[in-house]
Amino acid sequence: MENVILLSDRNSHSWRFAQKIQEHIFKIRGVNIDLREIEITKFNNGEIRVHVPSNVRKKDVFYIHDSSKNPSDWWVELLLIKDLLLRGSVNSLSLVLPNMLYSRQDRKDQPRVPISARALADSLSKGIKRIITMDLHANQIQGFYPASTPVDNLYSFPAVVRYLRKHYLQDLDNLVVVAPDAGAARRTKAFLSKLEKAQEDSLVKQKYSFALLSKIRDAPGEVGEMKLVGDVEGKNALLVDDLIDTGGTLRKAAEILRQHGARKLFCYGTHGIFTKGTEILTEVFDKVLTSNTQYNENSIEIIDVTPLFAEAIYRAQVGLSVSTLFEL
Ligand code: R5P
Repeated sequence: MENVILLSDRNSHSWRFAQKIQEHIFKIRGVNIDLREIEITKFNNGEIRVHVPSNVRKKDVFYIHDSSKNPSDWWVELLLIKDLLLRGSVNSLSLVLPNMLYSRQDRKDQPRVPISARALADSLSKGIKRIITMDLHANQIQGFYPASTPVDNLYSFPAVVRYLRKHYLQDLDNLVVVAPDAGAARRTKAFLSKLEKAQEDSLVKQKYSFALLSKIRDAPGEVGEMKLVGDVEGKNALLVDDLIDTGGTLRKAAEILRQHGARKLFCYGTHGIFTKGTEILTEVFDKVLTSNTQYNENSIEIIDVTPLFAEAIYRAQVGLSVSTLFEL
């Protein structure tokens, strides 16, 4: 591991994220990996300028990017950083993208629209050894990248299940786990099975169930009609989503669940963007949970997923299994 360096921008939210990765690898694996700085500035007209002050020649670099940035800056910075590092003769370059932006447009769902997730993959993949991300909007996005650039899609669920069992064990009894739309059904069922698995060795067995909301979007960022399939009457409910943008989906879902007699309401969205603030959800949910793939103030509950990224980086580098990371 002596040839490995973590690279991040000290003036961005990803610096703390990178520090935590570094700390975790040292604590658990006893390996001290160098965390180096990249400078990202702008010309007066807004063009982005990137610079690494130290020598990176022959290094295996893991660049940790800040997903909370303006999405256009996020993309252009990645292209420029890749160019700079490859020209700087790194041995290999892996990108750590806690939230893979531009993932929502992952198919051509109407005429004359781009497949943005594919366009991103085309622009990034050449010369990149590996991409490490979390809870991709759709698993098939991994297939947009060539075999020479594998994408490790980490799952945050084990961390979330552990957190819920530690802090809210009693509220989990007779819990119904709800998918806020059809696209989330698979992910939510995977979450449910982790929850069930986590209590295998426990003496007290809780009962969990599954429900689904069908959602029709009138326009991007607007949520139309929603219908509930399943029973939530008298149960605590947990909505699980990959992404909270405006919060409109989960707010509307909370209203429907209340109308159908749900008791306590929890929600978890891995990537908490909250473009309309967190109140839209804290007003209607008993607990709002997210991870730290996006930067948020501590006004909501934030589950730290840096240990998963740290382990994935370590295992990718030394050739250990990454999938066993998700076992509870
Ligand atoms: C949709 O397919 C996604 O999984 C999320 O449900 C959606 O992007 C959330 O957006 P918003 O918070 O704006 O409703």
